[in-house]
Amino acid sequence: MSDGDVAIVSAKDDNKDATSGGVNRDRRYFLIQATSAVAAVGVLGAAWPFVKYWTPSAKARAAGAPVKIDFSKLVPGEMLSPIVAWRGKPIFVVWRDNQAIESLKSDTSDLADPDSLNPDQQPEFAVNAWRSVKPEIGVYLGICTHLGCSPKYVLTDNFEASGQGGFFCPCHGSKFDLAGRVVKGVPAPDNLQVPPYRFVSDTVIVIGEEGTA
Ligand code: FES
Repeated sequence: MSDGDVAIVSAKDDNKDATSGGVNRDRRYFLIQATSAVAAVGVLGAAWPFVKYWTPSAKARAAGAPVKIDFSKLVPGEMLSPIVAWRGKPIFVVWRDNQAIESLKSDTSDLADPDSLNPDQQPEFAVNAWRSVKPEIGVYLGICTHLGCSPKYVLTDNFEASGQGGFFCPCHGSKFDLAGRVVKGVPAPDNLQVPPYRFVSDTVIVIGEEGTA
């Protein structure tokens, strides 16, 4: 008998064993698989309401998503327009000229919190005279810290002693310098908030993320 004949006989024996005793092994295997599949669907069905409950909607994710701002068309002395919103709040991006940068270091006597001592108002990277990553580029939430109006960007000579301009809130007259620092004696209690942000190039920032470019 050749090796090929042995192989054929063994296959037939296996098939016979599978049907011996009235039990078809293939059918039993099929039933086990089908039962497992039904059980898995049941578990998935029970878990789905919880998965759905804990997964934020696309709208909610978009509302909190980082926002990229390209300010390549901004020139020194201007604020970016149109204003971009992040989490429903306006983001002010200003390009300060050299004179303004120098003034922010020295003209601090009229300010309520010139050294940004309130840690709620800016990330650690913005605790400096400009309250920003780069001295020339200021990035602030355009929300007055009094009752939430949106201040206006002003560059009038008499806005403050230094004449550099800043942000003026028309609702109740609060003033902030070009680093968003609140002037003493106005209704607003705090400096404008600095959002988390990072540079991805010299003229593009991402609001809502921190880190180096
Ligand atoms: S909301 Fe800005 S001064 Fe009152």
